[in-house]
Amino acid sequence: DAQRIFDDIHRQFQLSPETLVELTGAFLDEFKVGLGNYNHPMAMIPSFVTGVPNGTETGTFLALDLGGTNMRVCEVVLKGDTTFTLRQQKYKVSDALKTGEASVLFDYLADSVDAFLTSHPPSDQPQGHGDPFSQPDPDVVHLGLTFSFPVEQTALGSGKILTWTKGFSAKHAIGNDVVKLLQDAFDRKHMHVKCVALVNDTVGALLSRAYTAGGCVLGAIFGTGTNGAYVEEVANITKLGNDPAAARGGLMVVNTEWGAFNNTRSHLPSTPFDNGLDRLSINPRFQAFEKMISGMYLGEITRNVLLSLIDAAPKALLFGGKTTAALNAQWGFDTSVMSGIEEAWEGADTKKGTGENPIPQFSAYDDAKALDPAVKARLERVRAVLVKELAYKAEDVSLRDAAIVRWATSLVARRAALLSGVAVATVLIQTGRAVFPGKGGKPSKNEPKIGVGVDGSLIQFYPHFEDTLRESLRHVVGAEVEKRVDIGMAKDGSGVGAALCALQAIKQL
Ligand code: BG6
Ligand code: GLC
Repeated sequence: DAQRIFDDIHRQFQLSPETLVELTGAFLDEFKVGLGNYNHPMAMIPSFVTGVPNGTETGTFLALDLGGTNMRVCEVVLKGDTTFTLRQQKYKVSDALKTGEASVLFDYLADSVDAFLTSHPPSDQPQGHGDPFSQPDPDVVHLGLTFSFPVEQTALGSGKILTWTKGFSAKHAIGNDVVKLLQDAFDRKHMHVKCVALVNDTVGALLSRAYTAGGCVLGAIFGTGTNGAYVEEVANITKLGNDPAAARGGLMVVNTEWGAFNNTRSHLPSTPFDNGLDRLSINPRFQAFEKMISGMYLGEITRNVLLSLIDAAPKALLFGGKTTAALNAQWGFDTSVMSGIEEAWEGADTKKGTGENPIPQFSAYDDAKALDPAVKARLERVRAVLVKELAYKAEDVSLRDAAIVRWATSLVARRAALLSGVAVATVLIQTGRAVFPGKGGKPSKNEPKIGVGVDGSLIQFYPHFEDTLRESLRHVVGAEVEKRVDIGMAKDGSGVGAALCALQAIKQL
């Protein structure tokens, strides 16, 4: 019967504390494999960034950021007192650019930098060491590139694109040096811009949080995609082999590319709704973890759940069997609509972070008159969002429908946030800040504050994402460690991170 179908979906999205621990174990294993070998899906990429900033760095830099919701060009002025100023221009990248010829995409990037330099002439800064507008060649503007895709770096300023993620598939890019692709585009246009450093957005988040907050061990993105970079001991990055970086020892930031965790899905509890998404995506079987977590995908998973209820036989279980053009279209249900639904459900005055997610008995919502007025008001707000965002007629959405959509939304989002906690827990255990449950012994590091810099639309805007991530973290590493985890926005991480890398790079020029 109907309730059995709901209960069954509900069950498929649950993650028990035991499963979270088991996933953490599998995650740690993949970390080890990636640190020891090249060409593993969890790429554990050495960034060649060998220290984190302390806030005293200075200089004026240009940064270009590709891979999040927006492409942007920024000018960053690091003031040396943990503060900075930033001027930026955002640009959209069309699907045609994402999936066409790489040279056309990189020409567009170069054009955008050109337009920015015309509309934002360089700030009047004191000419000091590390100022790319004057050093070492006053005619050349130095730029740091934040490129938020897997790139096998060979130095601070070069690296080969391993694969595209997040809806990009531009041709003739994989295997090429991304800095060269960009530099060739600048040179084709005879621009006096030199790309000197390359950084992943997670590395940028880590560096910028360290610059502004003093100390940071993990930079993580929960946005269109998800990924993390952390500070690792070079001795553990055994695949560096004879690279001079290995001989120098010390620390290095590693870009994990954790979005590719468990691509075989031997541990991740995939549902038919996940499988449907994966099958129709442009990268089936890749980015398994990311596809359960990040903003590009959560709406699509939820859409699959809703469609299965609309199509349920022998009787439709949602919207009286009606769909709309938005719901019918692949990617037609955006994750931001899910945020809107959760906000509408909560209203202004609800307590935060209850973690509540009861198995619903939807028949209880059929008699609107019998409903608690507060619940009714919540459902009416949710209904208004559905009417506006999915273009339903108000009379086609019952309060029961609203309750069902809100339930499906929270199931998918809650699973995403719990899984995100597993990734953070893995880094804490890998770096000796927590011990694997049941393993005994004490963590080797015990700082009062464990700095984590985050960025991305999910962690920034999705209600309770961080609360639920922390709930998961408590299950795996315990409340005492979780309390010390200091999660803060890495404001303008990509710009500041690219600037800091450009600074390190031109010191070596
Ligand atoms: C932005 C950063 O703030 O956040 C990008 O500038 C990053 O570098 C992005 O990729 C991630 O968030 P989203 O939601 O835009 O993918
Ligand atoms: C994808 C990319 C990764 C990036 C993340 C967040 O997972 O592969 O490089 O850091 O998205 O933007």
